[in-house]
Amino acid sequence: MNEYLTLSNLTKIFNSSQQNEVVALDQFNLTIKKGEFVTLLGPSGCGKTTALRIIAGFEIPTSGEIYIDNQNVANLTPDKRNTAMVFQNYALFPHLTVYENIAYGLKVRKKPRDVIRNDVAMACQVVNMVGLEGRYPGELSGGQQQRVALARALVLKPKMILFDEPLSNLDLKLRLQTRIEIKRVQQMLGITVLYVTHDQSEALSMSDKIILMNHGKVVQSGVPEEIYNNPINTFVADFIGSANFISAIADEIEGERITVRVGGRIFVVKQKNSEDQYEEGDEIYLSIKPEAIDICKEPTDFIGIVEIKFFLGSYTEYKLEFEGSFINVYQSNRGENIKIYKPGDRVYLRFNHDLFSIYKK
Ligand SMILES: Nc1ncnc2c1ncn2[C@@H]1O[C@H](COP(=O)(O)OP(=O)(O)O)[C@@H](O)[C@H]1O
Ligand SMILES: [Mg+2]
Repeated sequence: MNEYLTLSNLTKIFNSSQQNEVVALDQFNLTIKKGEFVTLLGPSGCGKTTALRIIAGFEIPTSGEIYIDNQNVANLTPDKRNTAMVFQNYALFPHLTVYENIAYGLKVRKKPRDVIRNDVAMACQVVNMVGLEGRYPGELSGGQQQRVALARALVLKPKMILFDEPLSNLDLKLRLQTRIEIKRVQQMLGITVLYVTHDQSEALSMSDKIILMNHGKVVQSGVPEEIYNNPINTFVADFIGSANFISAIADEIEGERITVRVGGRIFVVKQKNSEDQYEEGDEIYLSIKPEAIDICKEPTDFIGIVEIKFFLGSYTEYKLEFEGSFINVYQSNRGENIKIYKPGDRVYLRFNHDLFSIYKK
């Protein structure tokens, strides 16, 4: 078996008082293969940090099992679990230099001095911090501090690194750079990663597999493309990709092809999730991703009215009124003839039906 981490029916109930129980994890299941980069994605409070803390051994589960490298770790203290954690706030010692911060864990483990020197130098090289070993955390940028935190984890040669929203404190540009940095190091060293974020673009861009969570449970898991293109319910469609939900009626059902009525308009949608059964006349949500809609110059049967325009450089985001609903549309600013419309303009719309999904109301 090449599964490196298995969580089996993991449940964690916090009871600050008997009446006030919080179910942070609810029969949570997960497997990660060796060398895989898996992301827990979900809204604040859905149990992501709790899952990491239980895996690392800082918290005891109420029930369920954890296997690391096929060993039940219930009775192993954190230092015996071969994992390292990287936090949002870096958690560096402010009074220690970069070198001393990275060396700290090795000193605690009473490694010989030359081993420490060698391993710290290696770790500094991996995260591109050579030359800055003598600085204090206060003399570093946020991105550099997070690279020190990563080096401090790497130097212990863990089999798995647990990242808890490591980029949340960085500004956008550094966040994008540090994303690439983490990915590069992970691939170079073949480390198994469990990464936690509430940021969908981070999850989509970095992960081999995404586990989307809500209320301590897995809602959907799969490769990023699968989760993005085939969200199983409105929670996923809304969380990933900011879909437009339009109230509609199922008009005609022929196997997987469902004719859907929106106001006076008809769309034919291929049903992606075979679990839901529809009947003619059902009230449903039609989910249309912003990039599935094109504003075009040639007349079409579909007309929208511009309500709000946001020019964002590489693309323009519009909020349009369409058949009594409001929809968001993204228009790439590629090409010479891209016209920017203004509030009140009537525009012709073209839809890419392949990107439509429908859900039960
Ligand atoms: N030590 C604790 N005592 C009581 N409740 C907690 C404790 N830690 C977390 N919780 C609760 O458990 C739920 C999950 O929290 P957490 O795992 O931190 O979520 P996330 O990291 O996804 O934001 C939340 O409702 C939170 O308030
Ligand atoms: Mg958290």
